[in-house]
Amino acid sequence: MATEPRTESQLFARKPLALLLEEAKGENRLRRVLGPVQLTALGIGAIIGAGIFVATGAAAHNIAGPSLMVSYVIAGITCIFAALCYAEFAAMVPVAGSAYTYAYATLGELFAWIIGWDLILEYGVSSAAVATGWSAYFQSAVSKIGIHIPKLVSESPWKYDPATGHFMSTGSVMNLPALIIVAIITLILVKGIQESATFNGIMVAIKVAAVLFVIGVGAFFINTTNWHPFAPFGWTGISFFGHRVAGMVDGGGAPIGTMAGAAIIFFAYIGFDSVSTHAEEAKNPQRDVPIGIIVSLLVCTVLYIAVVAVLTGMVKFDQLDINAPVSTAFKQKGIGWAEGLIATAGVAGITSVLLVMMLSGPRVFLAMARDGLLPKATFGDVHPKFRTPWKSTILVGIFVGALAGFLPIDALLHLANIGTLLAFVIVCAAVLIMRRKHPEAERPFRCPWVPFVPIMGVLTCLMLMFSLPVANWWRLFAWLGLGFLIYFAYGKQHSVMRRNAS
Ligand code: ALA
Repeated sequence: MATEPRTESQLFARKPLALLLEEAKGENRLRRVLGPVQLTALGIGAIIGAGIFVATGAAAHNIAGPSLMVSYVIAGITCIFAALCYAEFAAMVPVAGSAYTYAYATLGELFAWIIGWDLILEYGVSSAAVATGWSAYFQSAVSKIGIHIPKLVSESPWKYDPATGHFMSTGSVMNLPALIIVAIITLILVKGIQESATFNGIMVAIKVAAVLFVIGVGAFFINTTNWHPFAPFGWTGISFFGHRVAGMVDGGGAPIGTMAGAAIIFFAYIGFDSVSTHAEEAKNPQRDVPIGIIVSLLVCTVLYIAVVAVLTGMVKFDQLDINAPVSTAFKQKGIGWAEGLIATAGVAGITSVLLVMMLSGPRVFLAMARDGLLPKATFGDVHPKFRTPWKSTILVGIFVGALAGFLPIDALLHLANIGTLLAFVIVCAAVLIMRRKHPEAERPFRCPWVPFVPIMGVLTCLMLMFSLPVANWWRLFAWLGLGFLIYFAYGKQHSVMRRNAS
């Protein structure tokens, strides 16, 4: 894999695999402290959170009904395709940076930039959506002990109305609890990964226990008549840039139905890919990173389907609560003591997601800064004592806080999904390209059934992208446009590859 000459072809210059692996041995590296159990826990920590605890309510209520179970299967299968591709790359290129680094090694600098910039969007916006969901559960939990956050600072100033498709004022000025949790997590992350992994382990145990409790206890309250009608909004819900292709639409023209439900609750699976951003901190990345990705995804898929089956069996879909649906379902069935318990565990569970999400963004920045595509003094600076990318952690904290404090969860959730799906499309395509161009490269983990799995990964991700409301495409293009400006104004000039080639 030779470096191509500068000028236009610099855009497509690839970073040699050998160089990537060599760099991973240098100074200024992160500590290798994570084993397979910790990596799987980080995966589960990143996956189970606001998606299942919060988004499930609105998705069943407004978009898919009980067929949301099937939506979870569709989104889960999509993620498994992508996860197998991620795992192949994560084992081949076990350095921080995830899909960004894989793209640099295969598709060249411009694609690497696009995907890196897109990952910042994914992690930043997902973190903000999760912080907003955290705030809803936190408020639900503390209300049980008589504490009520003043309306003025309890939520974002706007919220989406599915009946009209417009945003309307809520009467609040900001979501203060979301802002505060973002600030606390930022401080924890600046201090270090070892502490973060321990903290995460405790949180994961609490939330898995809560999920098993919901399934085990809730199963006794299932009334199967609640599963009829099973797909009240139809089985599809696909549009193409605002033009309905299949299924129904809501008052604002956004697609609804089982497939559209999958596009929304896809959010619940975001996070497994973040395991790969910790490759550089793994003790045995070639073996443990694929294990962490695949095991965490499989565990979560099974749990999710069970939770949704129980939830929609306990309470009729159109009576599910939108803000804290899981804990409220138990109140609706008269099991009030369980409500407080689940709400508290929900807060813990969502906190661990926020932790992993906010841990991942700065590591992508770090990888980009090392390559000269972003200013190294800021984004590439590893703290001498804590060994964490502390400056970019603080910058990401400010970005996430600003989004979480002032934007509604729906808007954040959709944008996070489309950004992540785009990253998955590129990673799946990159596996195909890499297999063709470099069949000889060492692959400690091989994605099975190539080309079927990567092709299905690309197609299913695109299908979900087209099941999202069209506005998200425009927002994605705007973000990428901004990214291009920065790349051509800064990254292209400062690229380490460019300097080495000249
Ligand atoms: N999958 C994560 C969640 O559901 C982002 O909160």
